[in-house]
Amino acid sequence: MKVLIVGSGGREHALAWKFAQSSKIAEVYVAPGNAGMKLVATCIDIAVTDIIQLKEFAIQNKIDLTVIGPEIALEKGIVDEFIKAGLNVFGPTKKAAEIETSKIYAKELMNKYQIPTANYQKFSDCDKALAYIKEQSYPLVIKVDNLANGKGVIIARSEKEAQNAIRDFLINKRYNCQKIIIETFLEGEEFSLMAFVHGNKVYPLVTARDYKKAYDLDLGPNTGGMGCYSEANISELTLKKAIETIMIPCAKALVNEGRSFTGILYGGLIATNEGPKVIEFNARFGDPETEVVLPRLKNDLFVLIADLLQGKEIKLEWESYETLGVVLAAKGYPNNYQKNFELLGVNKINGVIPFYMGVNEKNGKVYASGGRVLILVGKGKTKDKARQNVYKELRKINCEKLFYRADIGI
Ligand code: AMP
Ligand code: GLY
Repeated sequence: MKVLIVGSGGREHALAWKFAQSSKIAEVYVAPGNAGMKLVATCIDIAVTDIIQLKEFAIQNKIDLTVIGPEIALEKGIVDEFIKAGLNVFGPTKKAAEIETSKIYAKELMNKYQIPTANYQKFSDCDKALAYIKEQSYPLVIKVDNLANGKGVIIARSEKEAQNAIRDFLINKRYNCQKIIIETFLEGEEFSLMAFVHGNKVYPLVTARDYKKAYDLDLGPNTGGMGCYSEANISELTLKKAIETIMIPCAKALVNEGRSFTGILYGGLIATNEGPKVIEFNARFGDPETEVVLPRLKNDLFVLIADLLQGKEIKLEWESYETLGVVLAAKGYPNNYQKNFELLGVNKINGVIPFYMGVNEKNGKVYASGGRVLILVGKGKTKDKARQNVYKELRKINCEKLFYRADIGI
């Protein structure tokens, strides 16, 4: 069997690594991938948004299964295009993916089906939004409706900060913003819960905890994720409620709305005093959650997805050890950062898995090419053991032009 993974980051490397272990898989392709994945996959130079070329590649190369990484490809309708061509694909249609690509759609669905989330109002008119925030208490959360690379959320601590955010989004049209939502601030432990979903069928994965802020103590700007661990620090009861009051109802709601979801439904959740609530839904594997969750999955990923797509019951099995990953990013990230410097020391790492996020290769040498360069994932009987393993190995990498958070898992 041949599998094609669409995307180029650490998440796609982890998927390729996992598929490469399948006894059913002869060939793993990643489009466009990155040079760090070469040990487990063949990289194909097609952009994630070039859905026609991707479809042609899948047809010509008789790909048995395509898995979609990034939300931008889902928004472009890659799954609809593959289904029309009779191809086997794991991901939601454009309409089902709106659970991620439109925050207003997600909110309206949650309200209609009483899925717990923060109260909100939507706005496209700047003056109306500015009048509304006068009556609110702070902090207040302002979000861009459309996709914004994870950057379209501002936690405003004062009316002044909220005004700035609203003007930036609705007047300056940052991130091509046309509409925003303003929602109440929720307090609690955040966690990520992904599930394999096919219509009404929902199979939760183990939980993970993502670190979005650039610097230690959760300071600095938001990033694509600076580290992660699995299992998240939440109670069994919270997890049970999250599955029963959020994940299953969401999948059923989408079926009911004629937008049946197939793929990974990702709940960005928060354990509040009133129980778990939704911060956001994503319509795909999380990054960096995937890099810490897949190393715990015992099943053959290809068999799992193939069975799921055929409507068979699946049973997920997990390693009891915990995993923890720390991201090495280029200094300056998420703003301007250096590129094209050589990564030294990566060949000395052992006992932990490097998943490459943004690298290229010249004459057998590996160079940083992205803001987030790689994530090192370790395992251990406990989270602390996993953390010790990762930080010990991290020191072997030449870190002069790189930085990482020292407090992942603490
Ligand atoms: P999002 O892109 O929606 O996941 O938001 C990014 C981050 O903003 C989340 O991981 C939370 O830390 C924070 N956030 C978003 N919405 C809320 C909310 N209603 N209450 C508290 N924090 C929030
Ligand atoms: N880790 C958050 C995301 O994948 O969007």
